[in-house]
Amino acid sequence: MQIFHGKAPLIAHLKPIKSAHSTIGFVPTMGALHAGHLALMERSLQENECTVVSIFVNPTQFNNPEDLAKYPRTLDEDVRKITALSPEIIVYAPSVEDIYDGNPVSQSFDFEGLENQMEGKFRPGHFNGVGTIVQRLFEIVTPTNAYFGEKDFQQLQIVKKLVAKNHLEVTIIGCPIYREANQLAMSSRNERLSADERNQASLIYQTLVQAKEKFKTESIESVNQYVQEAFKNHSLFDLEYFVIADEETLLPCVTKEKNKNYRAFIAVFVNNIRLIDTISLN
Ligand code: PAF
Repeated sequence: MQIFHGKAPLIAHLKPIKSAHSTIGFVPTMGALHAGHLALMERSLQENECTVVSIFVNPTQFNNPEDLAKYPRTLDEDVRKITALSPEIIVYAPSVEDIYDGNPVSQSFDFEGLENQMEGKFRPGHFNGVGTIVQRLFEIVTPTNAYFGEKDFQQLQIVKKLVAKNHLEVTIIGCPIYREANQLAMSSRNERLSADERNQASLIYQTLVQAKEKFKTESIESVNQYVQEAFKNHSLFDLEYFVIADEETLLPCVTKEKNKNYRAFIAVFVNNIRLIDTISLN
């Protein structure tokens, strides 16, 4: 396994690979790798001649300084996991300086409204930070295919929009959510939960599954009410939002229409640790 901390040597290393028209698969991550990340890497290894994984906790996408400070940083362990998966993978683990050249600020993007819903509402500036880092990483890595988990479904739609609007030559591939044994969606933030909190956090997915079931026969308002009630009497949980939205536009829906794909999105604080999850309702 080769690890690069600077973009210049990485670009030089990738140049002959690009010139030979080999495909480059790219998995951008913020580290603290779990089985979900490793599944993205496996898929990239299967579908590309070369796989690059970035590990970078991007400061510009955090609107909460405490969340940024507490975000797990486990580079040695991450490198060990990647090497065990495949020694062929190229790792790019840059410093903030290497990425931002002394100016760690976001660009401003117009994602045609996708950025104003859910995560965008509750984490101001988050998607400008995501757009900035993803665009910069694409410039450095020049991937053929890039792999993103569907847990961050809004992010996935936004990255697709970024690519479409800027005519970038990369195919964005969304991959299914990986879940722990109790069905909690895998996330690097789960590391910060106690064993008991992690166990109890299975309520999030259980509630989504129930919501999906109810969505078949009940109104959107009634499903919304059900979810509010499910978290109301739990001191451990603080529900930030539950939204049923059109999968394409991400606009919240109040009535059901034929030929539309719906998806439920949820964000919940478990003892101050913010977890998100999503489920397709069709
Ligand atoms: O999903 C993530 O881990 C991050 O938002 C990403 C895409 C690596 C950008 O920092």
